[in-house]
Amino acid sequence: MRFWNLRVVFYNYLQSNTFNFYLCSVFKPNLMSAANLEDYRKVTTHRLFEMKQRGEKISMLTAYDYTMANILDLSGIDVILVGDSASNVMAGNITTLPMTLDQMIYHGTSVVKGVKRALVVVDMPFGTYQGNSKEALACAIRIMKETGADCLKLEGGEEIIESVTRILSAGIPVMGHLGLTPQSINKFGTYNVRAREEVEANKLVADAHLLEEAGCFGITLEKIPAALGTKVAKELKIPIIGIGAGGGVDGQVLVVHDMMGMTSKGFSPRFLRRYSDLNSIMTNACQQYIKDVKSCDFPNEAEQY
Ligand code: KIV
Repeated sequence: MRFWNLRVVFYNYLQSNTFNFYLCSVFKPNLMSAANLEDYRKVTTHRLFEMKQRGEKISMLTAYDYTMANILDLSGIDVILVGDSASNVMAGNITTLPMTLDQMIYHGTSVVKGVKRALVVVDMPFGTYQGNSKEALACAIRIMKETGADCLKLEGGEEIIESVTRILSAGIPVMGHLGLTPQSINKFGTYNVRAREEVEANKLVADAHLLEEAGCFGITLEKIPAALGTKVAKELKIPIIGIGAGGGVDGQVLVVHDMMGMTSKGFSPRFLRRYSDLNSIMTNACQQYIKDVKSCDFPNEAEQY
């Protein structure tokens, strides 16, 4: 009987936060140094706002599947974006335009299953919000219901403000996206830096204010002059996350396949820092596997039943 009680106490300990904290400290030092225990609370849009207020930079990366999302989450990333860049890095398309609502829901659902702490943002794909705002809301509700994500991101300013407002009115948090908006690539014609000219820069600033006033919790600024990124971050209270928008914004986002060095070295915009060379690492592993199979080195005695 006494032994049984001890087992119950031990079992409860295994389930407790104290034990999990101990486990994290001992076995996951990288995890604990990236995020202290306080950070283990779920990241919310409100917490991002507080991070901006106290000057703590926000880290954001894309993910499109369960395994990658789980790695990023356990590393302590603040925000995971299920970007429609899945169209490029997962589906092999040249632009983000072909991405469908069902495909974004598939990626969103897979990512959410791998995440406990990070805020999960899902991109609304091209064609789901640029027209009728009621249809936009219906699409937004489908993404939220079917993926379990925390919020959505939409590209554009004044042109889509009706959709933004309607989605927000349903209690769905929205992140804006200004500057280089890849869903408009056919209008821009190139992926060059946007808003270098005064007229476009002024419109971007006006759009950023409009999105904040509408109730967006944050804005992504893509590929614009650093000075403009800093100006917007200073003028707005909501967090501004940059990708090629300089160091004066409130946080940074990169496409995970790019920063891990999985995508072609030929793609090397100035804003991209590669933190690994997974392309070479994976190629080497694959070549070694092929060699081992051909030479009958794999499987060895210990690797069979
Ligand atoms: O789809 C995406 O990956 C994005 C980032 C470039 C911000 O929108």
